[in-house]
Amino acid sequence: MESNTEKLDLAIVVAADLNNGIGHKNQLLCHLPDDLKYFKKLTSGSVVLMGRKTFESIGRPLPNRRNIVLSKSNFNAAGIEVFSSLEAALEILRQDAVTKVFIIGGAQLYTQYLTLVDVVYLTRIHAEFEADAFFPQLDNDTWVCRETTLHEADDKHAYSFSFETYQKITQ
Ligand SMILES: NC(=O)c1ccc[n+]([C@@H]2O[C@H](COP(=O)([O-])OP(=O)(O)OC[C@H]3O[C@@H](n4cnc5c(N)ncnc54)[C@H](OP(=O)(O)O)[C@@H]3O)[C@@H](O)[C@H]2O)c1
Repeated sequence: MESNTEKLDLAIVVAADLNNGIGHKNQLLCHLPDDLKYFKKLTSGSVVLMGRKTFESIGRPLPNRRNIVLSKSNFNAAGIEVFSSLEAALEILRQDAVTKVFIIGGAQLYTQYLTLVDVVYLTRIHAEFEADAFFPQLDNDTWVCRETTLHEADDKHAYSFSFETYQKITQ
């Protein structure tokens, strides 16, 4: 089969608190409806790639998206495609001429693949929570924040937060 040489862009989407906490007991830290809308708008029609625990936490495939789940066990579920490595997943996605993949968590995937992505869509929640899953620190020598939009707390959002877009600095 002819291989697709078009570049496949990887981006991360994550919501983290002031300590880079992202989850506790396999759940998100808080409910922010406008962040979920932002996530939906960003990823709809695209490919989302997640770890098995994140998929189990969500509990169903995300609609209107191709759901790719990484697992080394015999895990499977309706509406998802399971791969035992990122390389195996990307090989199939390239064959299918996919050019953009959003890595949507959790901590294990973020930690392993941060070095491979060019853009991080980080929702910074302006609060501190008890957490057992964390996002790696974005270091200032490698990442620059290109855009930030503040969302104030309101009757639907207990905390204020910012939509931040980080771009990898190319040397
Ligand atoms: N705030 C956010 O934006 C956000 C987003 C997503 C998730 N979360 C939170 O993050 C937490 C879950 O993160 P987590 O780190 O515990 O789990 P995870 O990254 O979602 O999933 C880990 C699992 O993925 C599989 N896996 C990981 N690396 C792999 C690789 N290289 N190849 C094949 N399979 C691989 C393994 O599954 P097997 O054990 O089946 O082999 C592993 O146990 C939850 O609290 C969740 O709510 C937060």
